[in-house]
Amino acid sequence: MRFFLGMILILTTSCTEIFKTEIDIADCSNSDTECSYSESIQPIFTLHCTVCHNSTSPDGGLSLESYNDLIIGNVIDVADSLNSKLIHRITGENSSIMPPPPRDRLGASKIHMISKWIQAGAINN
Ligand code: HEC
Repeated sequence: MRFFLGMILILTTSCTEIFKTEIDIADCSNSDTECSYSESIQPIFTLHCTVCHNSTSPDGGLSLESYNDLIIGNVIDVADSLNSKLIHRITGENSSIMPPPPRDRLGASKIHMISKWIQAGAINN
């Protein structure tokens, strides 16, 4: 009996661990919600970009693993946010679109959240 209880405990614990690894992106697309880098922006990068843009082997010389890496990458222009290289690459229609095909493009809502966050000053909030 104890053995079975132990097995149930182990199974329950490992399932909880699996769920914890899911990436949770806080929705800040609503006009009166401020976008947080740690709760919305980094999770988008982690889900869609860091498979290629990581610090171990950064494609295009850009790592999107952390706020510092993003700033060092120099792909954001706070003074002219919508002209940021980052925005061009996620909204473009040409072959330089990120993430590259056959991966799914970021949806309008995620693009909007990233743009909003840059327009608000691209701070590490
Ligand atoms: C399948 C791999 C892959 C994925 C996924 C990917 N990228 Fe890229 N990215 C590349 C490669 C390769 C380059 C360099 C070639 C180029 O500029 O197109 C690049 C270049 C870039 C550049 C230009 C860097 C510079 O300084 O010139 C930006 C910005 C960028 N990616 C953003 C993103 C964002 C944001 C995501 C996630 C939404 C993403 N990428 C997902 C492979 C990827």
